[in-house]
Amino acid sequence: MTMIPVSRPCIGKKEAEAVARVMQSGMIAQGEVVAAFERAFASYIGVAHAIATSNGTTALHAALLAAGIGPGDEVIVPSFTFIATATSVSMCGARPVFADVDDRFFALDPGSAEALVTKRTKAVLGVHLFGQPFDIPGLSDLCRDHGLLLLEDACQAHGSSFRGRRLGSFGEMACFSFYATKNMTTGEGGMVTTDDPELASQVRLLINHGQKAKYLHTALGYNYRMTDMNGAMGLVQLERLEGMNAKRAENAKYLDRVFRCEGVIPPAVRPDSTHVYHQYVVQVAKGARLTRDGLMKALAIRGVGTAVHYPRPVHDQPLYRLLQGKDHCPVSARLASSVLSLPVHPMVSGEDLGAIGRAVNEVM
Ligand SMILES: Cc1ncc(COP(=O)(O)O)c(C=O)c1O
Repeated sequence: MTMIPVSRPCIGKKEAEAVARVMQSGMIAQGEVVAAFERAFASYIGVAHAIATSNGTTALHAALLAAGIGPGDEVIVPSFTFIATATSVSMCGARPVFADVDDRFFALDPGSAEALVTKRTKAVLGVHLFGQPFDIPGLSDLCRDHGLLLLEDACQAHGSSFRGRRLGSFGEMACFSFYATKNMTTGEGGMVTTDDPELASQVRLLINHGQKAKYLHTALGYNYRMTDMNGAMGLVQLERLEGMNAKRAENAKYLDRVFRCEGVIPPAVRPDSTHVYHQYVVQVAKGARLTRDGLMKALAIRGVGTAVHYPRPVHDQPLYRLLQGKDHCPVSARLASSVLSLPVHPMVSGEDLGAIGRAVNEVM
């Protein structure tokens, strides 16, 4: 039996040809193609500057450093996210402070974040989790009231918008990932977006060895550059992004309608927002016929691949447990044992969707 994979990159001939052209040109490190990708991405998001990086984690690290985050500082992050949201803060020598998320949209809860603000807090790094916005008005007000920077982890939200404006254009800076499973991919890759020219040039400096002019180094920098091969793929994927996102949304709407069981709660969409369904994440209801892990196994037997994003809240990772203790973010902890991601990526066919709907309805 073949398994419907929970994620699969959507790569065509155009991507292969674009990468081959770069390889044949002999200029395989960073050059004009990355510059063109940066311009196209900035224009798509609606910001003045976009700086390409080697991945989403390096984008976050460089953005936080450019914002001046360092030892002694605290940055509030959600506990229910991918580990890199927090480790990028730690890489700066600063401390990630874990706040809880709300249980409808799974995003940073402004009330929980506000309770954790101290004199050391410098920024809030919100995550647009699974493809829809965090509470932008709530976190913007919080940051304004306390004089904090608002940064967006938009690694899962390419093309998603709030009140008609694309995510990646709300905070002082935003970071994207183009990892293989993302809504658009360059294999590995990342991008920082901002309207601030000084932050943009600081990020550019930091991702290129702190090099201000050829062999003149004014800051401790890194090699976080994207290659033209990745940039070439990114340009083609960006052209296809709207179409691929529309297919994800269409697949998600089908699943929303097809589930007949009370044991599975489909994802809620935040008002005034477009959800681009990086992941289609259901919650298994309390008292349902199967537990989350039971549902996962039952679906696997029926050829439906699933995944858990994420099985352990970040505050409870061995790396971070000593910082705030295990029992700190109860909603994040509950979600970690009740969420399940189902396949809605653009390669999921109508037949696959029917099979997913039947399998869930049969076992729950
Ligand atoms: C929310 C979030 N933050 C950060 C990252 C890190 O991106 P990357 O894997 O490209 O380093 C990812 C993706 O994996 C992510 O989903």
